[in-house]
Amino acid sequence: MSTPTPVTVTVTGAAGQISYALLFRLAAGGVYGKDTPVRLRLLEVPSQTGAAEGVAMELEDCAFPTLASIDITDDPAVAFDGAGAAVLVGARPRGPGMERADLLTANGAIFRDQGRAINDHAAEDVRVLVVGNPANTNAYIAHRHAPDVPAERFTALMRLDHNRALSQLAARLDAPVGELDRVVVWGNHSATQFPDVSYLTRGGAPVTDGLDRQWLEDDFIPRVARRGSEIIEVRGSSSAASAAGASIVHMRDWVRGTPEGSWATVALPSRGEYGTVPGVVTGLPCRSDGGEWQVVEGLEIDDFQRARIDASVAELVSERDAVHGLGLVD
Ligand code: NAD
Ligand code: LMR
Repeated sequence: MSTPTPVTVTVTGAAGQISYALLFRLAAGGVYGKDTPVRLRLLEVPSQTGAAEGVAMELEDCAFPTLASIDITDDPAVAFDGAGAAVLVGARPRGPGMERADLLTANGAIFRDQGRAINDHAAEDVRVLVVGNPANTNAYIAHRHAPDVPAERFTALMRLDHNRALSQLAARLDAPVGELDRVVVWGNHSATQFPDVSYLTRGGAPVTDGLDRQWLEDDFIPRVARRGSEIIEVRGSSSAASAAGASIVHMRDWVRGTPEGSWATVALPSRGEYGTVPGVVTGLPCRSDGGEWQVVEGLEIDDFQRARIDASVAELVSERDAVHGLGLVD
């Protein structure tokens, strides 16, 4: 029997809290499955490579059959060399009272430099997931510095918002979460996002009862959109294991396909789908055939949806303009 070729997966911010939950699931086969070994490349800032060594020691101690090797570096050119996947986690998290956009100045330059390194060193078919906030606009920055990589290879994490929406809906409908599908979170991973239940199904059938407009507007939408802040307030630091779990399923579905009939929310560089502004990285309903994300086509959008989608996309446009103003993108 021939041994499958390992996939090189680069994870940035490897000594941080999200990576501490992410790396073990990645090494255990959570994205590529039990038959494909992964070669981990961990990128950290120089002061944290020692802590990343400690994480690598624990990974070794798990004796995962799917873990082929671990390399630690503070050099993006080395980290992204030959990468088939890159999960860009390394960035400063926000604290209480901050909005994610407040991190643009602190984190934007990281994604400019990493976009360039991905462009020059990663594998041709690299898949990039940006987790570090503000995730959508950081993905925009990285994509704009990687002109040789197709735009749709750059994604930002909105699967966490999608999962949060599903979980709130399951509680409201008293339904097992696994029976619910076809939510979508449009726009930005921010307080303006629009978690949308217009196409929700339970066990494959449309859900028509139990979700009145008042509950949606007053409870559901703000609860999901502000869940990151709620976690920071209650936990004292930003979400980590749930963000790692969402990153794993985002990459798994991208690589291995979404289940039959199922959707995921993926933030992708817009091609103008559903009236969004081309170029900005916005949440869209997507399916994967096991290789590529495809935006779900042909959904009807009513006036309520239109106003919410437009408001969040307008915020993405203003973040885009801000990074151009800061000189992070020409
Ligand atoms: P953390 O502070 O625990 O870890 C961040 C790590 O990144 C640190 O070890 C730091 O040294 C490293 N780092 C900083 N700059 C780097 C660089 N240039 N190259 C490589 N590594 C670098 O933070 P965390 O809790 O793991 O969160 C990381 C990011 O993810 C934050 O920006 C947070 O807001 C964001 N986040 C996003 C989502 C989402 O759904 N998109 C969810 C949760 C958190
Ligand atoms: C989240 O949604 O939990 C993360 O983006 C962290 C944050 O700053 O809200």
